[in-house]
Amino acid sequence: MLHVMTVVGARPQFIKAAVLSRKVRTKKFSEIIKETIVHTGQHYDEMMSDVFFRQMGIPQPDFNLGVGSGNHGEVTAKMLQGIETLILELKPDLVMVYGDTNSTLAGALAASKLHIPIAHVEAGLRSYMMVMPEEQNRRITDHLSTWLFCPTQVAVKNLEKEGITNNGSCKPDVDNKAVLVCGDIMYEAYLYYKDKALMEGGAIVQLIEKPFVLLTLHRAENTDNPERLSSIFEALNQFKTYPIVFPAHPRTRKCMEKMNIEIAKNIHLIDPVGYFDMLSLENDCEFIITDSGGVQKEAYFAGKMCITLRDSTEWVELVEEGWNIVTGTDKTKILNALQVCSQGEKGNNVKLYGDGNTSDIILNSILKNVEILRDFVPQDDKQTSS
Ligand code: UD1
Ligand code: UDP
Repeated sequence: MLHVMTVVGARPQFIKAAVLSRKVRTKKFSEIIKETIVHTGQHYDEMMSDVFFRQMGIPQPDFNLGVGSGNHGEVTAKMLQGIETLILELKPDLVMVYGDTNSTLAGALAASKLHIPIAHVEAGLRSYMMVMPEEQNRRITDHLSTWLFCPTQVAVKNLEKEGITNNGSCKPDVDNKAVLVCGDIMYEAYLYYKDKALMEGGAIVQLIEKPFVLLTLHRAENTDNPERLSSIFEALNQFKTYPIVFPAHPRTRKCMEKMNIEIAKNIHLIDPVGYFDMLSLENDCEFIITDSGGVQKEAYFAGKMCITLRDSTEWVELVEEGWNIVTGTDKTKILNALQVCSQGEKGNNVKLYGDGNTSDIILNSILKNVEILRDFVPQDDKQTSS
C-alpha cells in the first residue's frame, strides 16, 4: 500500500486536490493507495475552505493544523513544524503538493528535509518575477520535488532551463526526477463538476442582472499596493457598458477598506462564492477580469475572454491563443482591453490543457515509478511522458 500525504491549505488547492482525492478512493486505486489529507488551515473562513469540501465531496482532512493568517515566515514556519510532526508520526511514502502557496512550500520543505519524495502538481510554471511569493514557492518546490507534473510542454521547457529534466528511470529521491506532462488538474475538475455546478450554482446567476462581467482580485502585488489598487479601480469605475460582479477575497475587501477605495455603482462587491456559484458566474458572464491564476484558465474553459490585471502570466499559451489580455494595472491598457472584450472578441479554438485525465496520469505514473509497487500497477492505462 502506497501512503500518500496530501498537503492543502488554500482555496485553489482544495479545487485541484478534489479530483485526485476522489480518484484515489475509486476501486481501481483504493486497494493500492491510501491518502492522508493535511489541511494547513491557511484558509479557514467557511467560504474560503469548508464550502469546497462540502460541495465537491472532498474527504474531510485527517488533520487541520489551524495555522491561520500572519506574516509569510510566521505561517510557513508553523506549517513546516506541523507537517514535520505528522510526517515523522505517519511515515508517508510520498508527499503530494499543489500549486504555489505557502502551504505548498511548507509541505515540500518538510518532506524534503525528511527525505520523503515529493510530487508537485502544477509544476514548471514561471512568471519570472521573484518578488511574487508564488514564484518563490513554486521554484523552491520544483527543485525539491521528485515528480514534477506539468500542465503543458511550456512548463516542461521552463524546468529544462533550470536544469530540471526527466531522467526516465525515476527512483524516489530528489536527484532523480520524473518530469511529465499530464494536462491541467483544474481542467479535469472543471469537466467533472461543471454540469452539477451549473445546476446547483445556477441560483446565483438568477439574482444577477445580465449581461454582466465577472471580476476577481486578490494578488498581494495588487491588493497591498495603493497605487496599483487605485489604478485598477480608476479604470473599472469608468466602465459603464456592463455591471461588474465582484466576489471579493477577504484580503481584498480589507485592503479596499483600509485604502478607502471607492467603487462605481455598477460594481457589485459580494462575499467570496463557492466553486459551483463561481463556475455558474463564469459560464454566464460576458467576460472576466482577474488576477487569479486559476480563474484565467477557467475563463478559457468557459469560452470567455479574460483581462489579467498582472504584469505577466504563467499561462502564456492563453495569451498566445488570444484568450487573455495581460494589462497589468495601467489604466489605459485596462480600458482598451475592456473595449476589446466588450466587442465580443474571442481566442482561437484550440485545446491547451490535455484530455481531462490528469489524475489518472499522475497516479499511474507514481505507481509505475515506485519500485516496490511495480507488481501492483494497473495495466490498462496509458501515460504521457516528456
Ligand atoms: C494565498 C496564496 C495565493 C493564492 C491565494 C488563493 C500564498 C503566499 N498566497 O493568498 O498564491 O492565489 O491564496 O486564494 O500562499 N483571509 C481571511 N480568511 C481566510 C483566508 C484569508 O480573512 O479564510 C485574509 C487574512 O486577512 C489574510 C489574508 O486574507 O491575512 C491573506 O491570506 P493568505 O492566505 O496569507 O494569502 P492569500 O492572499 O489568500
Ligand atoms: N473561486 C471560487 N470562489 C470565488 C473566487 C474563486 O470558488 O469567490 C475559485 C475559482 O473558480 C478557481 C479558484 O477559486 O477555481 C481560483 O483560486 P484563487 O483565485 O483564489 O487563487 P489562484 O488560482 O490565483 O491561486
